[in-house]
Amino acid sequence: MNEEPDFANSYADADRAGAYAMLEFANTYYLAYRDLPAILAEHVTGTRALDFGCGTGRSTRLLRKLGFTVTGVDVSEDMLRIARGTDPSGDYRLVPDDNFGELDTGAFDLVLSAFTFDNIPGAIKVRIFCDLGKLLRPNGTLVTIVSAPEIYTHEWASFTTRDFPENASARSGDVVRIIVTDHHDDRPVEDILWTDESYWSVYKEADLEAIQVLKPLAKGDEPYAWVNETKIAPWVIYVLRRTV
Ligand SMILES: C[S@@+](CC[C@H](N)C(=O)[O-])C[C@H]1O[C@@H](n2cnc3c(N)ncnc32)[C@H](O)[C@@H]1O
Repeated sequence: MNEEPDFANSYADADRAGAYAMLEFANTYYLAYRDLPAILAEHVTGTRALDFGCGTGRSTRLLRKLGFTVTGVDVSEDMLRIARGTDPSGDYRLVPDDNFGELDTGAFDLVLSAFTFDNIPGAIKVRIFCDLGKLLRPNGTLVTIVSAPEIYTHEWASFTTRDFPENASARSGDVVRIIVTDHHDDRPVEDILWTDESYWSVYKEADLEAIQVLKPLAKGDEPYAWVNETKIAPWVIYVLRRTV
């Protein structure tokens, strides 16, 4: 793995937050969320949830609709401001430096992170997964949705990467770039490439094990103009439990 690059969260930005808030569950994003209700029904008992990296609240509001009592946390005040405005009765909190001291240890039936680890440098992934694991009650479930490495080297209904041919030679831990085409902000988002293999070693170090891994593909009968989504999975969903 490479040395850690300098890295700034692309979502600590009011314009980016405003654009991101326009996204819903269409196009490539549909595949990230399509299977979530079934996954949660199968693996989660109880209704207390933490949405880690809640952003403008899309994933939090979805969990609330599914019946969870949710605390959404994020490091970007710009994103949280919109989440609170859209969902005034929701519980949205800033967690500077991912200090979870104000959250109840061992209290959550579910921790969800939707796309959050795409933006977290490798050096702190283990520490954050460890700390999220400690927030779970015994037998609680951590579901993490991340970008597959292939997302950065192909074209998609919601994304383009054709301006970034250098993504093809990126290794785990390198910065990669991608543009969201579903909203008006055409500045690239900078993510950290992280392979399946690298996630497995992080989970092991963080005392987590995967009980299910999904790589959702489109079926072809959805009302979206798929590009590669029927052949290549853009996302990986890991369903995790603590080992200790
Ligand atoms: C791509 S957005 C996803 C937002 C939301 N989960 C959704 O599904 O719409 C990623 C979010 O992760 C947040 N994030 C990045 N690094 C973080 C960290 N270290 N701790 C908490 N949130 C983080 C960003 O600020 C951003 O709001």
